[in-house]
Amino acid sequence: MEPSRAVLRKIRRPVESEMKEFEKYFRNACRTRVRLLDAVLRFLLRRKGKQIRPLLVLLSAKMQGQVNEKTLVGASLVEMLHTATLLHDDVVDDADVRRGFFTIRRWLGNKVAVLAGDYLLSRGLLLALEHNYSDLLYTLSDAVKRMSESELLQLEKSKKPDYSLDTYYRIIEGKTASLFAACTAIGAQSCRADEDSIREFWQFGFLLGKAFQIRDDILDLRGGASGKTRANDLKQSKITLPFLLAYRESSPAEQRTYRKLLRTKRKSSKVIEQLVEWIERRGGVDKSVQVLEAYIAQSKSFLTRMPSSPAREAMWMLCDFVASRDY
Ligand code: IPE
Ligand code: IPE
Ligand code: MG
Ligand code: MG
Repeated sequence: MEPSRAVLRKIRRPVESEMKEFEKYFRNACRTRVRLLDAVLRFLLRRKGKQIRPLLVLLSAKMQGQVNEKTLVGASLVEMLHTATLLHDDVVDDADVRRGFFTIRRWLGNKVAVLAGDYLLSRGLLLALEHNYSDLLYTLSDAVKRMSESELLQLEKSKKPDYSLDTYYRIIEGKTASLFAACTAIGAQSCRADEDSIREFWQFGFLLGKAFQIRDDILDLRGGASGKTRANDLKQSKITLPFLLAYRESSPAEQRTYRKLLRTKRKSSKVIEQLVEWIERRGGVDKSVQVLEAYIAQSKSFLTRMPSSPAREAMWMLCDFVASRDY
């Protein structure tokens, strides 16, 4: 199989010049005279991520019409917001590594990470206001609200566990799918799509976002090229889909054992390996792959209803990337 990075380069091709434009907007919006904040922003600009969300905005727009200034503002907005949530999420998860490097919270401490996250969040929302794009602001604020709710729900559930699939889906829909949905909706909104199309684009992004988070849960067990600390979810007693699906295949006695292991504070590497081994043995990973593939198939069925174009083909590849990415 082609390595993830090469696939991503191919996906970007139909919006290559627009991605460069987006980066200019993003860079410009990240200017400040506060030295500490400037250091954080420069660091973030240097170690950029996959930029999947702006890519979703641009490709959705191109499937609907032409990329325009509103699309570029939308793309910058979502990447700022995403970056803000990563800064906050790493505080919540005590994460030391991201994008193959140390996290801001590890480097400059939790206080700086929280405040810089707040800055990026408000800077993003202001960008929409400055351009009078109140529809984008609405779509995005709705996603921000859902993301905060579900990060809190997840925190609550890591202390007082609930092993239901319903709760798991509620969490990933809020923390990841809602922003993906906002991206595809914003792309359509920026091209003056009608309400029904916007809703359909939103739904498409929502499904894709769920698949994206499931893949992320799987990657947590693998480590590898992900650029993040392996098994951090297990360390944080987070209930992920591979864990849940293994749990449902286990006897009550086994459930008790692994429930207890997951809730152990400061797990030794032996405990981590036991958990990973059990998840694999009970088919937690294989079953998660099946669930993820069902979401990908649903996302693609939306694409088959759209007119053929290079943007649609790239979006199709993006669906495959989400299913099989290794970082
Ligand atoms: C990480 O998102 C947060 C999740 C929703 C899993 P990405 O994997 O898109 O992060 P970057 O921006 O590419 O680093
Ligand atoms: C995604 O969940 C959280 C956000 C919406 C930022 P994770 O906690 O799994 O994301 P990573 O693995 O830290 O990137
Ligand atoms: Mg995290
Ligand atoms: Mg994760």
